[in-house]
Amino acid sequence: MMMVGEIKVTRTKASRIAEVDFDNIPFGRVFSDHMLVADYSDGAWQSPEIVPYGKLQLAPAMPTLHYGQAIFEGMKAYRNADGKPVLFRARDNFARMNRSAERMVMPPIPEGIFLDGIKELVRLDVNWIPNQKDSSLYLRPLMFASDDYIGVKPSDTYKFVIFTCPVGKYYSEPVKLWVTREYVRAAQGGVGEAKTAGNYAASYYAAKQAQDRGYDNVLWLDGQDHRYIEECGTMNMFFVIDGVAVTPELSGTILHGITRDSAITLLKDMNVEVQERRVSIEEITEAHEAGKLDEAFGAGTAATISPVIEIGSEEGVLQLKPDAERKIGPALLKQLTDIRRGLADDVHGWIELV
Ligand code: COI
Repeated sequence: MMMVGEIKVTRTKASRIAEVDFDNIPFGRVFSDHMLVADYSDGAWQSPEIVPYGKLQLAPAMPTLHYGQAIFEGMKAYRNADGKPVLFRARDNFARMNRSAERMVMPPIPEGIFLDGIKELVRLDVNWIPNQKDSSLYLRPLMFASDDYIGVKPSDTYKFVIFTCPVGKYYSEPVKLWVTREYVRAAQGGVGEAKTAGNYAASYYAAKQAQDRGYDNVLWLDGQDHRYIEECGTMNMFFVIDGVAVTPELSGTILHGITRDSAITLLKDMNVEVQERRVSIEEITEAHEAGKLDEAFGAGTAATISPVIEIGSEEGVLQLKPDAERKIGPALLKQLTDIRRGLADDVHGWIELV
């Protein structure tokens, strides 16, 4: 065991890296050698530890398992053109995690645990950052209620964990989305903009119905009018209508995507007009009928910029242009990737060397 700043580090005695086929990595199933664990008890965060990746011991009464008091983040580490590890907008994920913590009545995580912990983990498992195109080291910080008590109230104790996974593409094919008017992901006043576990479990039923119809996921509409597009659960949405990029505004019910924010900034840099506003499924359908729906794509950390090729609903199917015929989505993905890889200037200060 050694100490790095405030962090106790116990290195693995048996790295698993030689077993990994970095050319074929399924998303989220391969974990690097180490993880960070920190406990919150007696009203304070205790010293974080980095230990070999492995199972945690948890009480069956733990309220996370019953009531879902749990939050997480998704972020990525890359290698730049010089082979050095870099983080992308890590401070924005840190800030969002603490906004989710506040909404879910959980204690804020100190920067010294979240950001220093991520950097130390990435340094330790630097060889797990894939070199392959479209690949990166996905970082998953999470926090959950860990009391041994089933009363319905915020927990007194919490666990904060960060583990990392080498990943390739989240969607290997262009995405097909199904519009549901029956189910909603989030309603005004709810927890839709918090990155909390229950938002994802709550989407599975409608997602299964979409998948049974041959679609990848749901295109969620707002909970009040069942007309305005929200997000797709794994990504925020962008539509290019007659050359203008339109994305649903941050209404309180959708995730404040960091890739969404990066996409808005980079599109403006590319002189593409961006409108953050309400956009209804009827507007999308009419634009498609008029031949003006140039593109649709999702933006997310795991999904990066993923083209949407089909939008289906009870009213019909909108078939979109293949990626090879698109201009804006592919140019945006290239610019985002080039910044992450150090091949384009980081004019917005998004990159941090580890
Ligand atoms: C991410 O993009 O990092 C997410 O958290 C979305 C999904 C994979 C759960």
